[in-house]
Amino acid sequence: MINNRRITPIGLSESYEAPEIHIPSAKELTALLADKGVAVTMGESLKGGTVSQVYAGSEQGRAVVVKYTTDSFDTDPTVSPLPHQSHYTDSTILKYLAKTNGVRVPQVLHDFQDQPITVMEDMRAAGFTILNENLLNGHLPMESASEVGKGIAVLQQTLAKHEEFETALSGPQVYYERGLELRLAYPNTQTQYDRLEKRFTNAHQQLIAVDTHPKNMFVNKEGKVAWIDFGFSVWGDRDFALPNCMAHIFIYALAGYIERPKAATFVTDAVAAYRNVLPIEDANIRPWHYLYRATYRFTCSLIIVSSILCNTSRQRCCPADILLTLGIL
Ligand SMILES: Nc1ncnc2c1ncn2[C@@H]1O[C@H](COP(=O)(O)OP(=O)(O)OP(=O)(O)O)[C@@H](O)[C@H]1O
Ligand SMILES: [Mg+2]
Repeated sequence: MINNRRITPIGLSESYEAPEIHIPSAKELTALLADKGVAVTMGESLKGGTVSQVYAGSEQGRAVVVKYTTDSFDTDPTVSPLPHQSHYTDSTILKYLAKTNGVRVPQVLHDFQDQPITVMEDMRAAGFTILNENLLNGHLPMESASEVGKGIAVLQQTLAKHEEFETALSGPQVYYERGLELRLAYPNTQTQYDRLEKRFTNAHQQLIAVDTHPKNMFVNKEGKVAWIDFGFSVWGDRDFALPNCMAHIFIYALAGYIERPKAATFVTDAVAAYRNVLPIEDANIRPWHYLYRATYRFTCSLIIVSSILCNTSRQRCCPADILLTLGIL
């Protein structure tokens, strides 16, 4: 059954369960796994504190990653509690994708019905690096652009074929958790919030990956891409994943980590590769976009012509002419 729960304001809820935030130490995790008959030597902490605790480790000489998911609040209690059951959504989808063709994910080696722990393949041992790491080092892997775009489309196409099941969060909950920033940010328009929520929970509904961002994507030297972190997957708008990923690329560029022209080329290539697999419905903005461009070009042409007519004696272009010409192109 698809999770169709609506948001319940915490203060009014009769059945609200307080999240149990539990962050186990490496030692505690080793013991929990030993109880299940799994002997893992725990290594460095890869990440921890918010939704999960993730450690590198080894099992019988094989590099593994151990992920423990806890109940948590995203940033503060106004956001909404994030249940540890997202672990089961994550491992269900990882196992499903591993069996299909076309989407590379880490192999799940151990997971349990009664413990939110996944022991999985360490993607670094397979030659992958997390995209975030590349970007923070100023490296935007241009050879991965098409694979990223195509990969997101194939990922969504593959998830669309998954049978129905109850995800940890519902579509409205995921939208609320992400959309709250929109409500807090200027200009804080309720209309915009409602319009986007309606789209997220009505258009192209299918099982989707929502966290398609550089901390959940790996790339390798051949430009191939791999994916992790499906805990907050829901039945929602298929078209969410691509712009979510591309917006992150622009943010790294705006923050100065990667060069802006390269980021623009990367996004153009990725979007084109996505379009080869899935259509992008931008019909709502197209007429306005074309009208805007046509008006802009016409105005630029008029200014250039009048500029040339007024300056026939100068026999050369001034910077304004060049800029305007570039604008027209
Ligand atoms: N299979 C893996 N191989 C290598 N590194 C991994 C693997 N799984 C997770 N990691 C590392 O651990 C980090 C956190 O893992 P993951 O994204 O699954 O946890 P999360 O709590 O859901 O993260 P977040 O809340 O930051 O999105 C990843 O960004 C990645 O650096
Ligand atoms: Mg993550």
